[in-house]
Amino acid sequence: MILEDTIDNHAKLIGWQIADAIETKRQSNEHLVLGLATGSTPIPLYQELVRLHREANISFENVYTFNLDEYCGLEKKHPESYNYFMRQHLFDHIDIPQDNIFIPRGTLEQVFVNDYCVGYEMKIQELGGIDIQILGIGRNGHIGFNEPGSSRASITRRVELAHTTRRDAAPAFEGFDNVPSFAITMGMKTIMSAKRIILMAFGENKKQATKQAILGDITDELPASFLQQHSNVTYCTDFNIE
Ligand code: GLP
Repeated sequence: MILEDTIDNHAKLIGWQIADAIETKRQSNEHLVLGLATGSTPIPLYQELVRLHREANISFENVYTFNLDEYCGLEKKHPESYNYFMRQHLFDHIDIPQDNIFIPRGTLEQVFVNDYCVGYEMKIQELGGIDIQILGIGRNGHIGFNEPGSSRASITRRVELAHTTRRDAAPAFEGFDNVPSFAITMGMKTIMSAKRIILMAFGENKKQATKQAILGDITDELPASFLQQHSNVTYCTDFNIE
């Protein structure tokens, strides 16, 4: 499904759907598993979730979250780490138990990374899989940090970042050379295993990649195009896809 609306309206609608899913699970004493993204795109959604917690008493006590990715080499307290981002925009403002939050650890020695990634996958499965996965999209069609060339079968792993990705992140890091070269990301298979996927893409600079992802060939050159093979994806845009 493709929905075109303003960013704020998308944030409200998705926020409400997440709140509803949390409440439905709570009523049957179950938990909801959310897959979360970083970047500027989901910020209005996180603001809406914080608002729902504060003003509509939505509790996140029965929610588990798995973040898509994290830069290698950044400490949790580094302002550009995704760990810091998630606390700043969401986790510090809601009542989610700390133990329910999973974000790939970017500071592990490389020799431990493979086992760690396998553990990340197992934890998702143990909790019953991701119910709702939130995604943004990179200008080169990456999702999470699944850069062009990422296979449909890829799982959580260490990846090298594309030049365009590092260039896009350069202003936040005050220089290209300060942008980490590697990251840990959930794989395409991990993402495609989510029961429901919501991809958010706002602004003209996302139009080309989003259009290709939805209407173009399915190819590992544009990893977001694999989403065409998923049976429950909502594409939320503020532009027309034609
Ligand atoms: C990074 C993240 C992606 C995100 C993308 C777009 O590459 N790893 O998950 O979708 O940035 O970010 P923004 O929403 O700021 O455009």
